[in-house]
Parts: sequence; C-alpha cells; structure tokens
Amino acid sequence: MSLHTAIVPPQGVWWKPAGKQEKVWIIIAFIWCMVLFAMMPFWHIKGGQNPSGIRSKVEAKAFAQRVQRFIDDYQVGVESGIPVVKPPPGSDVYLQGQMWAWKPVLILEEGVEYTLHISSIDVNHGFSLYPANVNFQIVPGYDYGLKITPNNPGDYKVICNEFCGINHHLMLGKIVIEPAGGAGPVETAIGGAL
Ligand code: CUA
Repeated sequence: MSLHTAIVPPQGVWWKPAGKQEKVWIIIAFIWCMVLFAMMPFWHIKGGQNPSGIRSKVEAKAFAQRVQRFIDDYQVGVESGIPVVKPPPGSDVYLQGQMWAWKPVLILEEGVEYTLHISSIDVNHGFSLYPANVNFQIVPGYDYGLKITPNNPGDYKVICNEFCGINHHLMLGKIVIEPAGGAGPVETAIGGAL
C-alpha cells in the first residue's frame, strides 16, 4: 500500500525531466540573477549616486549650536525671519532642517568647493534643490558633509520632500549662488534658464 506523504519519495519517474528550452531559460535566468547580484556591490563602489562627502554622527543639540555659531559668524541679513549667511568662499557651511524651516539662507559663490553640512534637529526631512535636480534625505543624528561646487548662479529653493508634519508644505529654504568674483546677489526668476 502506498502512502501519500512528503517524507517517503514517490516510486518511479513521477516527474518530467526539463526539456532543452526550459534548461536554456533556467541558465539565462541564473546568469541574469548573478549579473544583478554583482551590480549591487559594483554600483556601491562605482556608482555616481553616492554622496560625495563625509558622514558622521552628531547630536541634534550640538549641530544646532554649530549652525548658530556659523550664523553668528557670517550673518549678513534676515529674510522672512530666517538669517541670511554669506560664508567665506571654500569654507564649511551649515544647513539645518527642522519643522518647518531650513536655516539659514545661504549665499555661496560659483565655482568654489564648499563642504555643506546638513542635518535635521528633529525628524526626517528631504533636501530637494529646485530647479537643480539634487535630492538628499536628511536624517537626524547624522551630519552629511557634502562636497559641493555650485556651477550655475541664481536663486535656488530648498524644498522638503519628506513628509514631516502639518506644515511640511511650507518648509521652503533658499540658497543663492553668486557669479564668480562675488558680485551682488543676482535676481533670477525661479523656473528661468538655470
Ligand atoms: Cu521637512 Cu517635510
């Protein structure tokens, strides 16, 4: 008497051996799996999408204090209640995300490399630079020191693209890129040819 059980193998040839075409497709699928698998470490090392800078842990309070010191050192004005800061070309600059503002407004110079430190002092925010297509997730507790070289003078909006609460849609910041040589702030319509 034969039992239907998974423990005892069935008698005889109960399965159809794979045909030639099926074998070929299995081999193709397997090779493709290996290609995709290899792409993961490859892109991690070679991919241009990786952030260009250093990353370090930072306490929210310490970062807020550092941003305040940066503002105290280089503030040149106020815009809609947000300090406007013009740091020396090539220096370390700071941008703080918080519910629901980006602080401060930055005035940077074209063609100079800055280290842009970004962090959040409360929840996750999304750094989205408009109209340039630069996107970065801002996580509290981490200082992202991004190496940036502005290459297009104009006014840029920093839009939060990570839902962060009731006034998420009002979280707008600003970065002004001055032409090389340090002329006055340029007035550029957003959406213009940047
Ligand atoms: Cu910050 Cu949405």
